[in-house]
Amino acid sequence: MTEDTPNEIVVVKSEQSKINSVDFSNLIFGRVFTDHMFICDFKDGKWQTPQIIPYQAMTIEPSARVFHYGQAVFEGMKAYKDENDDIFLFRPDQNFKRINTSAARLAIPEFPESYFFDGLQTLLKLDKDWIKPGVGNSLYVRPFVIATEPAISASPANQYRFMIICSPAKAYYNEPVRVLFAEKFSRSADGGVGFAKAAGNYAAQFYPTSLAQKKGFQQIIWTDASTHQYLEEAGTMNIFFRINDKLVTAPNNDRILDGVTRKSVIQLAEDLNIDCEVRRVSVEEIKSAAKDGSLKEIFGAGTAAVISPVSAFEHGGDVFEIEQMEKDSYASLFKEKLLQIQHNLSEDPHHWRYKV
Ligand code: COI
Repeated sequence: MTEDTPNEIVVVKSEQSKINSVDFSNLIFGRVFTDHMFICDFKDGKWQTPQIIPYQAMTIEPSARVFHYGQAVFEGMKAYKDENDDIFLFRPDQNFKRINTSAARLAIPEFPESYFFDGLQTLLKLDKDWIKPGVGNSLYVRPFVIATEPAISASPANQYRFMIICSPAKAYYNEPVRVLFAEKFSRSADGGVGFAKAAGNYAAQFYPTSLAQKKGFQQIIWTDASTHQYLEEAGTMNIFFRINDKLVTAPNNDRILDGVTRKSVIQLAEDLNIDCEVRRVSVEEIKSAAKDGSLKEIFGAGTAAVISPVSAFEHGGDVFEIEQMEKDSYASLFKEKLLQIQHNLSEDPHHWRYKV
């Protein structure tokens, strides 16, 4: 076997599917998992034969480095089914690149491309009944890598486990979200790991987000760590501001996740001749746009969140309500365009669909 040419994936099928016990009309994000999971271990300096086995609990030693130092990265993707029962992923090449970019930052060995795509293909075909057709339905696909070596010295592990688990999903947010602009806490800093999909980036947000939730806000829009004057991203999605007819979003840097939905929105804006400026966005600019009425929309963009409108923001004790546009909303337009492409209901001029 060479690193890029996997052995045949060893597949052990589950004896009985759990699918009939699942109420697909009442799904809570990320609670129910499909019948199978993909596993590939790294040891002796190389990735071993991949396996797909029934979804189950697994045994890992308490000394595994992931538990102590958080050496873990992950991805979020979605699979869709069209009316012909064909299955599609959306821009999985971007997720593949990003998991290895994240891995490199966390000193985790690169995962081979063919293992990633062969694993996805085999797993999704096996669990295809869990992908329901129809706009609004999807299968959330979660690849991740953890450091499994049982050793608590603070250095990169020599053993890892790459896995893919899948969970049927509907909307992440059912309602527009109320957000708080961060004034004190930070998500990430220059030279840090903010651009990587590192597990710890998310854990570090839970406490400030729980404080925001107590005040009635579901999410925080993070500001730059040094001045807290520039808006960057929300905890579960990148963020766009519409000022009159122009869109504005923060540029990628060390601190901001290079979102697949974010870059797709920027491309769709260009296709639709909507002016989209990728530049720093200050808190003051958005507050004054809210005051003078030129702030028309704020929305988040992410794989789980798709396009999620923001209905209010708070900063420095001031709360600004954002009236939701019934007509000609950019958030609705981009959501519609993305879902049409993802579900194979429209042309795909940029070849974003990947047929499984
Ligand atoms: C995703 O959108 O895929 C994410 O990883 C965000 C996560 C908080 C659900």
